[in-house]
Amino acid sequence: MFDSKAVERLLEELPFKPAVIFKKRVDSTNATAKQMLQEGADHGTIIVAAEQTKGRGRYDRIWYSPPKGLYMTVILKPHLDFRSLGALSLLAGCAVADAIENTCGTPVKLKWPNDVLMDNQKVAGILSEAVIGDVENGGVVIGIGINQNTEISDYPPELREHLTTILTETGQETSNEELVALAVIGLLKRVESVEASGSFEGVIDEWRSRSSTLKTRVIVEDGVNVIEGVAKNVDQEGSLIIETSSGILEKVSIGDVTHLRLPSDE
Ligand code: BTN
Repeated sequence: MFDSKAVERLLEELPFKPAVIFKKRVDSTNATAKQMLQEGADHGTIIVAAEQTKGRGRYDRIWYSPPKGLYMTVILKPHLDFRSLGALSLLAGCAVADAIENTCGTPVKLKWPNDVLMDNQKVAGILSEAVIGDVENGGVVIGIGINQNTEISDYPPELREHLTTILTETGQETSNEELVALAVIGLLKRVESVEASGSFEGVIDEWRSRSSTLKTRVIVEDGVNVIEGVAKNVDQEGSLIIETSSGILEKVSIGDVTHLRLPSDE
């Protein structure tokens, strides 16, 4: 059983005490978090569930949530413009990547916008959603799903070739509590430093150095347009800049990326 008190102890290095709420089963931790945010929950509140019956991914896709995976959402009430959602998503990707590496010792990469890859396969995903409201009940929820102590056979056959799990890659079970605490500490500290500096530059640089997308030939589909080219950069809003074969720079703020080949020096 998940030990919320152990997480609270690990979070003691933070300057405030986030509430850690564990639920055995919810439809989606993001839905629970949005409800709690509207009811006035504090910055940093963490919701962790053992099971999600309606886990959601980007574009309203199903996020399969078998037992022993990690499903959590962090409520943020950052002193930042709501237009920062894209950059905040990249920030969350950096925090989760760092936490995974520090709990299991295996390197991970980030695929734009914030899929976490281990051995080029997806091991974690992040769903960031803004809740528009006033100071008390507006903010952002950062939903994090990590294929932690699951086996590839726990997922539907059609997904298996696109994903991996920490257990599969390392052969070791890792602690839910430690991974939650490290991800939250990394998330909240990065948010604090962006608030203090007023800039995402440091986080965007970190994302660039962890990226498996930059310098790679990609296809990006946003539901309407399909753009093919070389991923050149990400800007301060977290948008991806792609250079097409005609030399035009296209800016994409949402979309699904397919990597066409491994990074090169072009
Ligand atoms: C993606 O890669 O499509 C994002 C997946 C995000 C999944 C997590 S699991 C915890 C939280 N609750 C949800 O319903 N979704 C996010």
